[in-house]
Amino acid sequence: MTFRSLLLLFLCLALLPFIVQSQLTADYYQKSCPKFSDIVKETATKKQQLSPTSAAAALRLFFNDCLVNGCDASILVTSNFYNVAERDADINLSLPGDGFDVVTRAKNALELECPGVVSCADILAATARDLIVIVGGPYYEVLFGRKDGTISTKENTDKEFPLPRMPLSQIISIFSAKGFSVQEMVALTGAHTIGLSHCKEFSDRLFNFSKTSDYDPAYNSEFAKGLRKLCANYTKDPSMSAFNDVITPGKFDNMYYKNLQRKMGLLASDSALVADKRTKPIVDMYAANQTLFFNDFAHAMQKLSVLNVKTGNEGEVRNRCDSFN
Ligand code: HEM
Ligand SMILES: *[C@@H]1O[C@H](CO)[C@@H](O)[C@H](O)[C@H]1NC(C)=O
Ligand SMILES: *[C@@H]1O[C@H](CO)[C@@H](O)[C@H](O)[C@H]1NC(C)=O
Ligand SMILES: *[C@@H]1O[C@H](CO)[C@@H](O)[C@H](O)[C@H]1NC(C)=O
Ligand SMILES: *[C@@H]1O[C@H](CO)[C@@H](O)[C@H](O)[C@H]1NC(C)=O
Repeated sequence: MTFRSLLLLFLCLALLPFIVQSQLTADYYQKSCPKFSDIVKETATKKQQLSPTSAAAALRLFFNDCLVNGCDASILVTSNFYNVAERDADINLSLPGDGFDVVTRAKNALELECPGVVSCADILAATARDLIVIVGGPYYEVLFGRKDGTISTKENTDKEFPLPRMPLSQIISIFSAKGFSVQEMVALTGAHTIGLSHCKEFSDRLFNFSKTSDYDPAYNSEFAKGLRKLCANYTKDPSMSAFNDVITPGKFDNMYYKNLQRKMGLLASDSALVADKRTKPIVDMYAANQTLFFNDFAHAMQKLSVLNVKTGNEGEVRNRCDSFN
């Protein structure tokens, strides 16, 4: 063996721990925090009992976090003083307050058990998964070892994030830019089988919709009438909101897709899924077969869970989830 190949071998061996470290693994905390999974599950269970909106709040938080700049818990940070008002307003209005809270509770419990070890990004990923199971959804394996991001990129959020009034093609492009197929996008959006949307997110479909119709004809007329009543005062009371899945609002199932077929999709982006020939066959498939939806949702969530994760030296383990170290 030449000196150079020996040197190379030595370098490889020396770097091995770093290479290994930069991969997510299922048993990442097995030695450093063996109770990690139990503590997260217990915290999630208690929190969901205390406030049944937690599952939806955490799931939405996780999706928002992963889609913008990766699953790095950057959404939890309030450190930028000019961002605080905006996030707090958002918390109050859309009540993902429960999502932030469940992560904080788990983090506090984990810091007592194994200080400085478990990242907020991993806590959010595990919490979202556990809460989905608690409300009846599929279990899927999540890998761990994410580090928390050290950059806040709120400025980019608007461009990278799908909004209900965007044309479906634009929403498809946003997902495809993150590596998701149309079918994966439709499966992920099945998350709207739980949780709430505020009236302002769909009020344009309810009042003065067009010259010929007060409300969007893509709504079932009884459904639209109910929503018009519910949201009548939404400008005065911005907290007014409707269930995303009005039939089984707190249960993770395939009712969302059945609702779409009955013209009971709440957001314009929901209704668009049955109106477009790229997505309608997928909606019909999931409406007919919940097992298929659960399988596809679980796979797509696993994919979402590793989106642009930071590992090794690319991030930190935050002491508090709401601020950088
Ligand atoms: C297709 C593009 C999507 C659009 C345009 C969209 C938009 C929205 C909007 C506007 C709300 C209501 C927010 C509020 O008023 O508080 C909402 C709620 C929600 N979204 Fe989405 N979403 C999309 C996809 C997803 C995906 C992929 C997930 C998760 C994998 C998700 C999970 C949720 C959950 C769980 C809620 C309920 C939140 C709560 O009850 O606090 N959404 N979404
Ligand atoms: C949220 O709203 C409640 C009730 O209106 C208010 O007491 C509270 O101060 C608000 N929180 C923030 C952070 O704005
Ligand atoms: C609808 O339009 C009419 C006429 O333009 C207006 O008087 C009314 O206030 C509008 N209603 C709502 C809910 O915006
Ligand atoms: C809307 O406000 C009016 C007057 O403030 C009140 O009479 C009515 O009950 C409210 N409706 C709903 C659904 O909150
Ligand atoms: C539903 O989908 C599952 C998973 O792909 C498949 O095994 C099953 O045969 C399907 N059931 C029906 C009734 O098509």
